[in-house]
Amino acid sequence: MASSTLICETQPWKDLKAHLDEIKNTHLRNLMSDTERCKSMMLEFDNLFLDYSRQCATTDTIDKLLKLAEAARLKEKITSMFNGERINSTENRSVLHVALRASRDAVIQSDGTNVVPEVWQVLDKIRDFSERIRTGAWVGATGKALTDVIAVGIGGSFLGPLFVHTALQTDSEAIESAAGRKLRFLANVDPIDVARNITGLIPETTLVVVVSKTFTTAETMLNARTLREWISSSLGPEAVAKHMVAVSTNLTLVEKFGIDPENAFAFWDWVGGRYSVCSAVGVLPLSLQYGFPVVEKFLKGASSIDQHFHSAPFERNIPVLLGLLSVWNVSFLGYPARAILPYSQALEKFAPHIQQVSMESNGKGVSIEGVPLPFEAGEIDFGEPGTNGQHSFYQLIHQGRIIPCDFIGVAKSQQPVYLKGEVVNNHDELMSNFFAQPDALAYGKTAEQLLKENVAQHLISHKTFSGNRPSLSLLLPSLSAYNIGQLLAIYEHRVAVEGFIWGINSFDQWGVELGKSLASQVRKQLHASRKKEPVEGFNFSTTKMLTKYLEV
Ligand code: F6P
Repeated sequence: MASSTLICETQPWKDLKAHLDEIKNTHLRNLMSDTERCKSMMLEFDNLFLDYSRQCATTDTIDKLLKLAEAARLKEKITSMFNGERINSTENRSVLHVALRASRDAVIQSDGTNVVPEVWQVLDKIRDFSERIRTGAWVGATGKALTDVIAVGIGGSFLGPLFVHTALQTDSEAIESAAGRKLRFLANVDPIDVARNITGLIPETTLVVVVSKTFTTAETMLNARTLREWISSSLGPEAVAKHMVAVSTNLTLVEKFGIDPENAFAFWDWVGGRYSVCSAVGVLPLSLQYGFPVVEKFLKGASSIDQHFHSAPFERNIPVLLGLLSVWNVSFLGYPARAILPYSQALEKFAPHIQQVSMESNGKGVSIEGVPLPFEAGEIDFGEPGTNGQHSFYQLIHQGRIIPCDFIGVAKSQQPVYLKGEVVNNHDELMSNFFAQPDALAYGKTAEQLLKENVAQHLISHKTFSGNRPSLSLLLPSLSAYNIGQLLAIYEHRVAVEGFIWGINSFDQWGVELGKSLASQVRKQLHASRKKEPVEGFNFSTTKMLTKYLEV
């Protein structure tokens, strides 16, 4: 395939389109009765178990998707990524988040330089700094230990670390190592978020970590200035040096802000914001809370998946298969959304994180060469932990629109509860739903079954479930730091696979710029209006709304 050819013009894409009729006429009930097919759609790697037999796909579909991967030159694209080529062509950058979790002796090049030693230099600095904070060797301006941390950042500088923090909160080793410490995240520029973050904390025992790749993001910088004020008004301006550190690629702006570059933790432009949780963006706040050894296990889990993604044959490669199936669901079956449904409360921030990873990466309208796409790329991701989601939006998933679901389960709970007299423990109860939901979606319930159950005639259509709704199930052995790292990397690479197949640039995010520049125009207007200047330069609707706002 020539690099300018769109994937939809290739023969494998056309073959998949032609194959659609066969799939649309085959119910998952029938597909699930073929044990050999089901066996071939299960996969185990490093104690993870994936079952994708409830996808509306036959083994022939998978073969055809693998041919599509060939046509898209998926292997070469993955290799280019790991080789540090500048595959983010619109920003002229490499995409090397895999280097952030590579082992110390690995070699990963960017522009002919092995970046792994630099990565470890920062990791060692984090290990040292977090130990000093945690042991009280580094104290605040009044000599008190800094037991609490507020990480200020937004988007990729927030969602990933929040997800990992929330997940780690149930890990027994992590619980022990976090005893007596607090970690909070300030993202929204809404003053309510500042208030919620500082409530119950005092500057004397608080360390603020300003996390911003660019160190220009309006929300983060305003929040950082607000907390700088919080500290200096209480402890004096010189206290800022002891109570504020930064994570950024822009050390010049860090220094300008008033943070000593010695107390800054660097990362690199080859780390995309939404792929930065394994850089100092996540590793610093998480190490402050849990200690570096716990976070290192998380990095190792991610690295295990990186190696698998890089080297496993595509037909046994978890991120590749998941990516291809997503393309199948979106571009061929026409299902634009995906529900991420972890049966684990500790994974409650997983869907919001993947929402950014996926939607900011693949929500694009042109190919990497800038050609408008004649098909929709990207998918709408959302999710909630089960069983809460079941009591919310599952009605629509069962009887309304078709939304492919990812069920994520954890075999061994970190917190099992055994109630006297109960036959199953609370975790078994949770997991009963994890096992039941995929079958309910796949098989549905027919009118004949309902009639046999003597359901009243006028309710038959209401109580019928069409079934044939695709899902996949991923079972993790536990929710250890290592497994959390694996889960993260699977989804990161899955998103990359989808983008590689669609032929888009999954690593830029120009779509966020327009809103930002219009907000800056409004900001200027608000500034002028506070000095009694009239609202001007906006359309009728915005002028009216702004005027109303200023009246209050
Ligand atoms: O929302 C756009 C975005 O650029 C994200 O990609 C990024 O993660 C976020 O803003 C925060 O950016 P920064 O880390 O530079 O403050």
